[in-house]
Amino acid sequence: MKKFLALLLTGVMVLSLAACGGKKEEAPAETPAETPVEAPAEGGGTIGVCIYKFDDAFMTTYRNALQEILEGKGYTVTVVDGNNDQAKQNEQINTFITQGVDALIINPVMTSAAATIIDTVKSANIPTVLINREPTADEMAAYDKLVYVGADASQSGTMQGELILDTANKGDINGDGKVSYIMIQGDPENIDAQLRTEYSVKALTDAGVEVEQLNLTRGDWDREKGQTICANDLAQFGDQIEVVFCNNDDMAIGALQSIQSAGRKVNEDIYLVGVDALDAALNEVQAGNMTGTVLNDAKGQASQAVECMEGLLAGDTYAAGEQSVYVDYVKVTPDNVAEFMK
Ligand code: BGC
Repeated sequence: MKKFLALLLTGVMVLSLAACGGKKEEAPAETPAETPVEAPAEGGGTIGVCIYKFDDAFMTTYRNALQEILEGKGYTVTVVDGNNDQAKQNEQINTFITQGVDALIINPVMTSAAATIIDTVKSANIPTVLINREPTADEMAAYDKLVYVGADASQSGTMQGELILDTANKGDINGDGKVSYIMIQGDPENIDAQLRTEYSVKALTDAGVEVEQLNLTRGDWDREKGQTICANDLAQFGDQIEVVFCNNDDMAIGALQSIQSAGRKVNEDIYLVGVDALDAALNEVQAGNMTGTVLNDAKGQASQAVECMEGLLAGDTYAAGEQSVYVDYVKVTPDNVAEFMK
């Protein structure tokens, strides 16, 4: 485990050297065009962290990691809950600005609000790291003291498809020549939901496997919704369902409850995959109740976000088109699950 962590950290560090290095600020010109960012006081600065909602399993791990790393480095940190309400989060950002924070780390409520958020932090000249919900490169290009830290969602989708391709019958449990699946989607406004939905299935079709989508329903990343959607689909489609794709683990855990209530057995008569590698999902993968999941490295992303933030505070700037920093996803199967468990 220690070795794995060390490898993981090395991986993150290598990536950060390559990816988190915005341009160092050049010697100030005689008349600086912009007010330089004020360096934080000795022994740390004040950091505002905005989370889209606290009641999200993955973002809970993420925000706890952020808080621990920042406090460990001597920063004064305030983490606020946006309650899934963009208007509320906008107010929180404005309050942080009025309070004079040195930097912001923001997990937007709505990706579509990114342009407004970027405009606000730019006007206040606050170095900002956006996390988890990726805006477009064009939107980010408006402000060079801004970076996005996340993961390439298409990679996690592809890995979910590969988990199915790696099964003995490549997902075709009933041998009818096609893989019949249901898709339980996150919030479709979010690019992670869009790309995981697309790329999980694309991995199958790229491998020449025929697919049939029985249903696609938005579950908003939520466990209870995952359970209800899966129960309804099992009632409607029964044994036709061979694969349950969930855009995240929380929905997969919900789906598993319905699969078990319906008397179905994962890896025997149905496959189930998620994303995140939440502790609960790791337990289910180990127990054979989930086919697999994909590590969405909350801790790695949190340390990358802090590193990028410190770079910005030291004067780094980012060129347009180079403002996204990705931490790799990792496929989790019964074979390697133990490495990810505490
Ligand atoms: C995670 C989800 C989470 C979402 C929040 C995704 O990357 O996989 O579990 O709910 O981010 O935006």
